[in-house]
Amino acid sequence: MKLFDVYPINDINIVKGLGSYVWDDKGIEYLDMYGGHAVISIGHTHPHWVKKIEDQLEKIAFYSNSIKIPLQQELADKLGKVSGKNNYQLFLCNSGAEANENALKLASFHNGRKKIIAFTKSFHGRTSLAVSATDNPSIVAPVNETENVAFLPFNDEDALKKYFEKNGNEICAVIVEGIQGVGGIRVASKTFLQLVRNVCNQYGAVFIADEVQCGYGRTGTFYSQDQADVEADIYSMAKGMGNGFPIGAISISPAIAAKHFMLGTTFGGNHLACAAAIAVLEVMEKENILKNADETGNYLLNEIAKIPSLENVRGKGLMIGFDVPSELQELRANLLKRHKIFTGYAKPNVIRLLPSLALDKKDADKFLNALREEVNFLLSEKQNIPASVNA
Ligand SMILES: Cc1ncc(COP(=O)(O)O)c(C=O)c1O
Repeated sequence: MKLFDVYPINDINIVKGLGSYVWDDKGIEYLDMYGGHAVISIGHTHPHWVKKIEDQLEKIAFYSNSIKIPLQQELADKLGKVSGKNNYQLFLCNSGAEANENALKLASFHNGRKKIIAFTKSFHGRTSLAVSATDNPSIVAPVNETENVAFLPFNDEDALKKYFEKNGNEICAVIVEGIQGVGGIRVASKTFLQLVRNVCNQYGAVFIADEVQCGYGRTGTFYSQDQADVEADIYSMAKGMGNGFPIGAISISPAIAAKHFMLGTTFGGNHLACAAAIAVLEVMEKENILKNADETGNYLLNEIAKIPSLENVRGKGLMIGFDVPSELQELRANLLKRHKIFTGYAKPNVIRLLPSLALDKKDADKFLNALREEVNFLLSEKQNIPASVNA
């Protein structure tokens, strides 16, 4: 049987990981500045996480949601504490798309409305409603096309105000990433997010913060929206939550009431996934991971901004992007080929950095040195002059 060929892939077989590093089947070591697509929060195969999963595996991995699973409450208590939202309610699922799917569905159950507002360059997942709210027609199948989603320009306060003035009473929810990830590390402005909060309050719409990529400590605060001093009605999360163990969730405001069977899942909140997610939060607290993401992120951001050939250096914490000019278009490929460093990409020419939130300064420096050296090398190659003069 062949694999269904949906990804262009690098010809590399990663067989081992530890901290911010991974190794391939030939023993070659790579620095992972991509975090397996923003998933690695506390570091690859963190020993506490491994132990917690192993211990749980020996007891029980799964039983249905028809029985009590105290690990779910333990996770809810820890998440409430670390996120500062003790009064919110937790629904557990398995992925980011599923989290957004449930968030949007729940919003519609809550206010009985249909119209969703999403923004240009948004990415919310590949399942039915999540992909309908994703601004990329090439991944929206005809069956997912709907008039229930309106796309407004990202960070455009005027457009948002006007749309609400005209259609406010029909709007079910606004879904927004605090920092757009797939869209190319585009930071939502504080005043834009505050306006989302205000218009949602005014018109009875639900504010959904998609924190799947920008949340779970990645920007230095637990939710990226915390930095805009706003509180969303629903936070969706996934990637960093399990540090690679598949788990997603929504954190739901106390103003939204649950009814039996309005949401449900077979695998969501299983024993093993809860054990993995609890381990992540324990390490986050013990090792001060959010502070590290903030400090190491700021350091990287400032140092990258000093490299004159790289443009629009932006982001927060360990969610960083910069534009690569055309004369350096081999930069990302060369970082992998020549320096054994994984980075992320966004169209058309963005390098995205999404490393483990435990990335230390030594490894940040290793990346920066490779980046400077490679920029220098590519510029000198283009101009046919010695490598040391540029960068
Ligand atoms: C902001 C955002 N939302 C949702 C998703 C979908 O998550 P998943 O791939 O776990 O379904 C992603 C994935 O990249 C994402 O970046």
